Amino acid sequence: MRTLITNGTIVTADGSYGADVLVDGETIVLIGRDLAAATTADETIDASGKYVIPGGIDAHTHMELPFGGTFAKDTFFTGSRAAAFGGTTTIVDFAVQSRGKALREGLDTWLAKAEGNTVIDYGFHMIMSDVNDESLREMDRLVDEGIPDFKLFTAYPGVFLSDDGAIFRAFQQTAKNGGLIMMHAENGPAIDVVAADMVAAGHTDPYYHGVARYPIFEGEATNRVIRLAEAAGAPVYIVHMSARDALDELRAARDRGTKAFGETCPQYLFLTLDDMRNGFEGAKFVCSPPLRPADHAEELWKGLLRDDLALVATDHCPFDFHGQKELGRGDFRKVPNGLPAVEDRVDLLHDGGVVGGRISRERWVEVISTAPAKMFGMYPRKGAIAVGSDADLVVYDPGATHTISATTHHMDVDYSCYEGRVVQGRSDVVISRGTVIVRDGEFHGAAGHSRFLRRAPAEYARRS
Ligand code: URP
Ligand code: ZN
Ligand code: ZN
Repeated sequence: MRTLITNGTIVTADGSYGADVLVDGETIVLIGRDLAAATTADETIDASGKYVIPGGIDAHTHMELPFGGTFAKDTFFTGSRAAAFGGTTTIVDFAVQSRGKALREGLDTWLAKAEGNTVIDYGFHMIMSDVNDESLREMDRLVDEGIPDFKLFTAYPGVFLSDDGAIFRAFQQTAKNGGLIMMHAENGPAIDVVAADMVAAGHTDPYYHGVARYPIFEGEATNRVIRLAEAAGAPVYIVHMSARDALDELRAARDRGTKAFGETCPQYLFLTLDDMRNGFEGAKFVCSPPLRPADHAEELWKGLLRDDLALVATDHCPFDFHGQKELGRGDFRKVPNGLPAVEDRVDLLHDGGVVGGRISRERWVEVISTAPAKMFGMYPRKGAIAVGSDADLVVYDPGATHTISATTHHMDVDYSCYEGRVVQGRSDVVISRGTVIVRDGEFHGAAGHSRFLRRAPAEYARRS
């Protein structure tokens, strides 16, 4: 099957230009002007007035995650289909090591959940719950097998938290095996003290989840894990950064030459602590780190512009308001943590970033696609429009507007954090390895089409 995309503006991280793209099978085979005159195709897609961009890569999702006494609602099928509608053609999800069990067992469980159910290509990072001699040895094997990143936590005591010694040992291991440690950096034990004080004082509404998790607790933990990484001589990637306090620590580290990288998420750019007011409705916005006062978002946008923040992922971890978020009525500590966003990321960043005049369209493509591909060992197979790259392409209409709503989104969750928000920009045609999987709001994909991505070690994170 040969597909020709004509008359569009190709937008990549490096620049924009008018050219046609020829896809043969699963791969981009030719890029040039007026290709229709020089070649034949089974299908021609007219992209006049539209952008042609590399498919979005969401490097932080949690489909079906068991968390907070329940499960993240989107399955690999519903979540990846929603991602596709929103212009994302690759996700990297998190397999979880259960305490006392092998990394491999967790990985196999998550591979089984995803295989045959996911409609776009996918990879896995590994959440490490136990750091010991055996799990450290297993890390080496996983790096060799294409799972080169490991998430550890300074938050969630009793669930995922690792102490400083364990985190340091994991950094020592990646310094040797070429992997990358991803850190959830908040001081969980200190947060638990403040949260208990708040509940004891009768402050049980979800809003106090946001208040209890002080920005300084994120700043402290961010500095601590960066310092541990420096001591071990390993790079570090800080996930879901929300607070100026944490960004300041990241900037300082990068200024002194440390290989420290940051990710932020749409919720920290577009939502604020005020969204958590309104009684129990605020549960719709409970995530960790929490939403912050608006001035933090301003700093995050600057961080994105200046590349202190490398990319935007969603941390997609959806729970229904009814029946799931409601587990925390009367005690905000019991609200399952996480928000839906996998479908909205590309459009929100286009609307708030490019249309809003905060970043260029090339930087937009970089933060939603190219940077995650480079950071997580998929470039130039993914994240690029180049001869030989996978034909993961989106014909994007930068002028179309639509209204985000739970009544029209495809994520399997009963609310939207962005209900009623009008955004400019929409994915018209979404192509995954040469196959059209979304066209004009209709899904044409199939679960069996997806492929598990064995990814390279984080060489990019080591480069000077
Ligand atoms: O609230 C969040 N972030 N839920 C998902 C789990 C995590 O910490 O990434
Ligand atoms: Zn986290
Ligand atoms: Zn997460």
